[in-house]
Amino acid sequence: MRIAVLGTGVVGRTIAAGLTSLGHEVMVGTRDPSVTRKRTEPDRFGTAIATWLSEHPDIGLGTFAEAASHGQLVVNATSGLASIPALTSAGTPHLAGKILMDVANLLDFSHGMPPRVQASPEASLAERIQQTFPTAKVVKTLNTMSAGLMVDPGVLAGGDHTVFISGNDAIAKAHVAELLRSLGWRDIIDLGELSTARGTELLLPLWLSLRHALGLAPTAYQFKIVR
Ligand SMILES: NC(=O)c1ccc[n+]([C@@H]2O[C@H](COP(=O)([O-])OP(=O)(O)OC[C@H]3O[C@@H](n4cnc5c(N)ncnc54)[C@H](OP(=O)(O)O)[C@@H]3O)[C@@H](O)[C@H]2O)c1
Repeated sequence: MRIAVLGTGVVGRTIAAGLTSLGHEVMVGTRDPSVTRKRTEPDRFGTAIATWLSEHPDIGLGTFAEAASHGQLVVNATSGLASIPALTSAGTPHLAGKILMDVANLLDFSHGMPPRVQASPEASLAERIQQTFPTAKVVKTLNTMSAGLMVDPGVLAGGDHTVFISGNDAIAKAHVAELLRSLGWRDIIDLGELSTARGTELLLPLWLSLRHALGLAPTAYQFKIVR
């Protein structure tokens, strides 16, 4: 499948590489590809995006609009605070009728670490995206874990942990669940309509507290729902 991954951070790179290894044709979206290609200094993820791109010659880089146009499915892996502008740059026509897999969280890093979580019980980012782009089929998933687990759940507890999905379109959710299974996910909980993404976005303060309390690497703990 042709997939757009909007976002050049650790999440965009990880998902792009994971989906490419499964045989998908991935294009990563960024604000300005010429600027992004010139980023040769290691960033906060340890690797310069220019280096990462040279190591992944089979992954394309384009503007948000070029990538969204390429994708039959679009992943939103942009900064949560900038997701609406980034998706606006992608262009409503390029999102129309497509599954928009939203993995973003509303985190404000401007005051240092840990980031301030701006999630709200009144309305999730995913719902705001759906309202802004009503012809897209928004499915929230994967936002409750570190990037490294998203495409490789088996590195922790043999993959015996939980991923949630929320969305208003049952067929879109079924496609996303299938994609997740292809990445190795077994415990996939469909929470229901997109409004249930309020809950998963509000898990972030707990996820951040656990990181401090447990003193573990981000990929070394995760949520598991025991029935
Ligand atoms: N890091 C994790 O382990 C993790 C886990 C779960 C969920 N998430 C969520 O996943 C998303 C991506 O996280 P990340 O850490 O990979 O990267 P990030 O630093 O949160 O976001 C990077 C992306 O956001 C774009 N961006 C930033 N400001 C923008 C603006 N003003 N207008 C348009 N686009 C803008 C950047 O565009 P350029 O390419 O042009 O620079 C880049 O593609 C976030 O929403 C994050 O909360 C992260």
